[in-house]
Amino acid sequence: MSKLYVTTPIYYVNDLPHIGHIYTTVVADTLARYHRLTGGDTYFLTGTDEHGQNIQRAAEEQGIEPIQLADRVVSRYHELWDEYAMSHDDFIRTSEPRHRAGVEEIIRRIDANDDFYTDRHQGWYCSACETFYTEKEIGDAKLCPVHERPTEWKSEENLFFRLSRYQQALLDLYAEHPEMVRPESRLNEVRAFVESGLRDLSVSRANLPWGIPFPGHPGQTVYVWLDALTNYVSALGFGRGEAPLYERFWDTADATRVHVIGKDILRFHAVYWPAFLLSAGLPLPTTVWAHGWWLRDAKKVSKSSGNVVRPDYLVRRFGPDALRYFMLREMVFGQDAQFSDEAFIDRYNADLANDLGNTVSRVVTLSRRAFDGMTPPESCDDNPLIAVAREVAAEYRREMEAYAFNRALAALWRLLAETNQYLVEREPWKRMKEDGGARAVARVLWNCLEATRIVTVGLLPFMPRTAPRVLAALGVPKPPASLDAMAWGGLPTGALLPDPEPLFPRIDKDAWVEETPAAAGAAPSPQDDNERIEIVSDETRATAPSAEPKPAAEPTPAAAEATTEAMIDIEQFFRTRLKVGTVKLAERVPKSNKLVRLEVDLGEGAPRQLVAGIAKAYEPESLVGRQVVVVANLQPAKLMGVESRGMVLAASEDGQPVLLHPDRQVPPGTEVR
Ligand code: MSP
Repeated sequence: MSKLYVTTPIYYVNDLPHIGHIYTTVVADTLARYHRLTGGDTYFLTGTDEHGQNIQRAAEEQGIEPIQLADRVVSRYHELWDEYAMSHDDFIRTSEPRHRAGVEEIIRRIDANDDFYTDRHQGWYCSACETFYTEKEIGDAKLCPVHERPTEWKSEENLFFRLSRYQQALLDLYAEHPEMVRPESRLNEVRAFVESGLRDLSVSRANLPWGIPFPGHPGQTVYVWLDALTNYVSALGFGRGEAPLYERFWDTADATRVHVIGKDILRFHAVYWPAFLLSAGLPLPTTVWAHGWWLRDAKKVSKSSGNVVRPDYLVRRFGPDALRYFMLREMVFGQDAQFSDEAFIDRYNADLANDLGNTVSRVVTLSRRAFDGMTPPESCDDNPLIAVAREVAAEYRREMEAYAFNRALAALWRLLAETNQYLVEREPWKRMKEDGGARAVARVLWNCLEATRIVTVGLLPFMPRTAPRVLAALGVPKPPASLDAMAWGGLPTGALLPDPEPLFPRIDKDAWVEETPAAAGAAPSPQDDNERIEIVSDETRATAPSAEPKPAAEPTPAAAEATTEAMIDIEQFFRTRLKVGTVKLAERVPKSNKLVRLEVDLGEGAPRQLVAGIAKAYEPESLVGRQVVVVANLQPAKLMGVESRGMVLAASEDGQPVLLHPDRQVPPGTEVR
C-alpha cells in the first residue's frame, strides 16, 4: 500500500491566519484526502511555530506571555481548520514537551557527528525572518529582501552548524533526486544558491528566554528554524523511544514524505533541513513542494506588506468549499496568483453555479419528472460519454499525482462540458412521447447523471462538504470511500432523487463589488501590523462594518446562522469590565524599549500595577495624571518579569498605540459601557 506523509509549514503565532496559510493547508488537505481515496496509508500534519524573538516581542507588545499569545492563535487555527474541514491527523505545537524531546535528540545526533562549534556571530539580521543576510542580499539600504524592512546589526557568541560541509552532498542529492525540490524552477534556484557556496549556520541565540534551551550550552536557545523544522519528525514520535509513526512514515524507504510550503521558506526546507538530517543520519523528505504566493496589488499577501486577505466574508456567504475550489482552480500550483473578489465571483458563477450547479439541477429535474422522482430505471454501458469519462478519470489521476490541481479540475470540467453537449444534442425532453421514448430517455438521463456523478467523486478531495451533498442530489446518499468509484457504472437505477436544493446560487457580481468594501479593494478586516490578537478577535472582524457584506440575495439559513454565531450578545460584552483609571505613576520597564509600568487608580483603594507596550509612543512622565481605559478583569500576566493586572486600551494606528481616554475627567473606577 502506498504511504504518504504530507505536512504544511507550522505557522507563526504572532499573526492570525490569512489566505496564504489557508491555501497551503487546503493543498495539503486535498493531497491527503486524495491519497486516502486511492486507498493509500496517509498521515497529514500541521501545527504552529511558537518560539523565537518575534513571538516574544509580539506577546510583549500585547502585554501577555508568549504562551498566552500562542494559545489564543492556536485556538483560532483549530476553529478555522474545523470550518474548512481540514483532515489533519495531528496538530503539533513547538511549545509541547514531545517536540522538545525531538529537538534535543536531533541536536544530540548532530553533535555526535561533530557538526556544532561555538563562535562569534555577527551580521545583518532580520528578526521577522529570524535570519542573517549577506551584504549583497540586503543592498546599500540594508533592507531585508523578504520584508523590505531595515535589518539590524547583531553580534554574539553562538553555536554554529557546519553547513559548509554539506555543500557537495546536497548538490549530489539534487542531481540524483531532482524530485527533492519541486517545481523544477525552484530546484534550479536552490541549486544555484548552494553552488554559490554555503557558509556555516548559526543555530543558537543568546539571551532569548522564549525557546528551547540548547542542550549543554546554558544561556543559548535553539535557533527557531532548527527548532521548527524538527516538528516534521518530532510529531511522529522521534526522540521519544518507541515511535511507531516515525517508523511507519519517516524511518522507512517505502513512504513518500512531502513538505508543502510557500516559496518564501524554500531555503530552510531544501537546504538547511536536509543538511541537518544528513548530519543526524536520518532519512530525507522525498519532496519539498514550494508553491507560489497569493498576491494583492502585485505584492505578496502578508502581514508585513499590510495587504492581508482574510476571506471570512466570502466564506460566510459562499462556504469554505467554494473558496477551496477557487484557490486550487485559480492558482497554477507553483506560480503566483492574484487574489480578488472579482476573480472569485467569476469562477464561482462560471464553474460552480453554471457548469456544475446547473448541470446537476437540469439532469435531476428531468429525471425526477420522467421517472417519478427517481434515477432512471435503466443504466447504459454503450455511449460516447463513457470514453470521455475514462480518459478524464485517468487524466485526473495523473494530474493529481503531479500536484497539478488546476489541471485535474479542468479535466473534470471537460467531462461536464461533454455531458451538457450530449444532453443538448439528445434532447430527451422531446423524446418522452415518441414510441419507445421512455427507454431512450432513461438511457440518456442515466448517462448524464452518471457522468456528473463521476465528476463529483473527483471533487471529493477538493470540496469535502459540498461534493457529498452534490452526490446525494444525484441519488448517491453515501459518498464512496475510494476513487474506484470514478469507474463508469456506479449510479444506482431507480434510486430516490431528493428534492433539488440550490447548490450554488448565482452571485450578482456588480452588486457584490459595489456593496462589499472588501471587494472594492478596501481592507476586508482590520489588518494593522500590531493588531492585538485578543482585541481584534475574529468575532470582531466578522462584525466590523467594513467586513460585513450585504448579501446580494436573501442569505441562506446557513449564512444567517454563521452571522449570528459571529455576533456577541450584550451579556457577553459586559463580561469584559472596562473602567476608567487615573495614572499615578509611569516608568519604563528596565531593559525594555516598549514597555511602561503604570500604577493606575481604579477606585479600588490601592492603585493597580499595569504594564503597557506604549513606551515608543509616550514619554512615561507625560502619562501621570491622565485618565485611561482599562480592561479590569483580565487574568494577570507577567511581562519581562513585571506583573500586569489588566490592560490599557489604545487604538493602533500604523502600529503606533494611541491611548483612549474619556471626554472629561470622571471618578477613577467609573465603568465604561
Ligand atoms: N513558521 C514558519 C514555517 C516553519 S516550517 C518548519 C513560517 N510561518 S508563517 O506563518 O509565516 O507561514 C508561512 C507559510 O504560509 C508560507 O510558507 C506559505 O505556506 C503560507 N503563506 C503565507 N503567505 C502566503 C501568501 N501570500 N501566499 C501563499 N502562501 C503564503 O514561515
